[in-house]
Amino acid sequence: MKVKVLDNPLITHKLAVIRNKETGTKEFREIIGEIATLLCYEALSDAKLKNIEIETPMGKMNTQMLDENEYAFVPILRAGTGMLDGVINVIPNAKIGHIGLYRNEETLKPVKYYYKMPKDIKNREVIVLDPMLATGGSAIDAISMLKEDGVEKIKFLSIISAPEGLKELEKVHPDVEVFTACIDEKLNEIGYIVPGLGDAGDRIFGTK
Ligand code: PRP
Ligand code: URA
Repeated sequence: MKVKVLDNPLITHKLAVIRNKETGTKEFREIIGEIATLLCYEALSDAKLKNIEIETPMGKMNTQMLDENEYAFVPILRAGTGMLDGVINVIPNAKIGHIGLYRNEETLKPVKYYYKMPKDIKNREVIVLDPMLATGGSAIDAISMLKEDGVEKIKFLSIISAPEGLKELEKVHPDVEVFTACIDEKLNEIGYIVPGLGDAGDRIFGTK
């Protein structure tokens, strides 16, 4: 499985701000969005462009553009929606699906509560969004659902990933490319990423 880690001092800086427990909801949300934008640029570095002719104020030119109709973003609820504005900045006309999953706190297994995709999802490249890849269970189930719907090209964007989750994801979906801002040390005994940033959903929505 291809895993691309954004290696940039400004990402380290931004991560330090959101990891800090004193950082408030507003700044936390803004930075999640900024990092999502950068991950999306990286994920699209293999994008196929189409030849077009345009006219600049100085005259005609042949250039290339992306076909925005070839893409869909799929945030995993809730925390994945925190990344949505950041990626929509990159491809404003992409369609959006939603997958609702929460982790059972005892078993750490994901529980599905919502699934809604654009009708033509199987014809699109799908970019799945979730800030935290911990045990990998949520990512694995979300990707399996998309594959059952016929989606062939899937990329996964996360802000922080745990080595344990990446390993599990690779076992089940070795074809999926992962783009992450950081791979942290490990999971703790209750399935949280260490050092991590705590509960991403609670920090984005201010629910704790
Ligand atoms: C968090 C996170 C992922 C999942 C990661 O969501 O946003 O979806 O946990 O854990 P895993 O890799 O072990 O499956 P959570 O279940 O807390 O729901 P929320 O987004 O509604 O807060
Ligand atoms: N979900 C989170 O929001 N944070 C973690 O560290 C693990 C799962």
